Amino acid sequence: MSDTLTIIRPDDWHLHLRDGAMLRAVLPETARHFARAIIMPNLVPPVVTGAQAAAYRERIMAALPEGMSFEPLMTLYLTEDTDPEDVAAAHASGLVKAVKLYPAGATTNSASGVSDFTKVRAVLEKMAEIGLPLCVHGEVTRADVDIFDREAVFIDTVLDPLRRTTPELRVVMEHITTSHGVDYARAGGETLGATITTHHLIINRNHILVGGIKPHYYCLPVAKREEHRLALRAAATSGEATFFLGTDSAPHTDSNKEQACGCAGCFTATNTMSLLAQVFEEDGALPNLEAFTSKNGPAFYGLPQNTGTLTLRKAPPSYPKKILTGEGEVTVFDPGYPLTWEVASA
Ligand code: DOR
Ligand code: ZN
Repeated sequence: MSDTLTIIRPDDWHLHLRDGAMLRAVLPETARHFARAIIMPNLVPPVVTGAQAAAYRERIMAALPEGMSFEPLMTLYLTEDTDPEDVAAAHASGLVKAVKLYPAGATTNSASGVSDFTKVRAVLEKMAEIGLPLCVHGEVTRADVDIFDREAVFIDTVLDPLRRTTPELRVVMEHITTSHGVDYARAGGETLGATITTHHLIINRNHILVGGIKPHYYCLPVAKREEHRLALRAAATSGEATFFLGTDSAPHTDSNKEQACGCAGCFTATNTMSLLAQVFEEDGALPNLEAFTSKNGPAFYGLPQNTGTLTLRKAPPSYPKKILTGEGEVTVFDPGYPLTWEVASA
């Protein structure tokens, strides 16, 4: 077996970069290996208008260290007041590549998200007309729904009705975590895609809770039972066009993670490619890694594949356990076992 693997330079179809000092610290971690990323708009306040997305893009480019190249693919945060014409203009200018739907209260900085879906109908219809994808955080937020069931209930009660009402709308099910998500995405035809994170291929809910609570494994949607992790692995490693990488790498400082009410998010930008190479190798699917990280995403979004490459080599990677930021330290996701692939060149 060859001990190197060269693939088309990957993209990350779901990434949190934040702003200010945190942005400056985490951006190089992604730009080192990834050519492009879909940038999540859940800043405080959120990125709602085309003008705000343009300004955020400028701040990202200003934070990029000299000698690195990276293309941020901007998104707008959908609110009940979003103006369909502003969305259409931001798309027509080439600035915005997707609109993000957070059900109100679903996760970090989602307070301005959608509660009443009738109020966003005109925006969704405009997006369907112009071919602009909707990225969906697929969890209901009702207190009476168990947190481990929130994805399945969302699919049945929100996503499926929404797609039946607007069948032409292109939808990305973000960070799916269950076999229900896998099955629904697979059956959805070419208007439906799904991203899968690196960490959901590696941890199940036991990793969070057995032997003491592990705040750095806590994210949303929360990791589910082992059978769901295995379904995600089968989907990601299958090479099927529906599934592509969205790391959901989400930096929070250690002091915000390790406390009585800790923030949700795993930070995987630094070691994602090493983690994935090992996952795909373990499942006998290394030849499908490139489809998952570098081909299926651009195909769904109607963008060209990258021209550069990334080479992995069978050797223990070396990277910091924590990233120093102006706001404090951020812990890099630790799978709990030694890694065996390093990025040799990118
Ligand atoms: O774990 C998560 N962290 N899930 C999300 O949906 C948001 C993200 C964040 O922004 O920290
Ligand atoms: Zn996210």
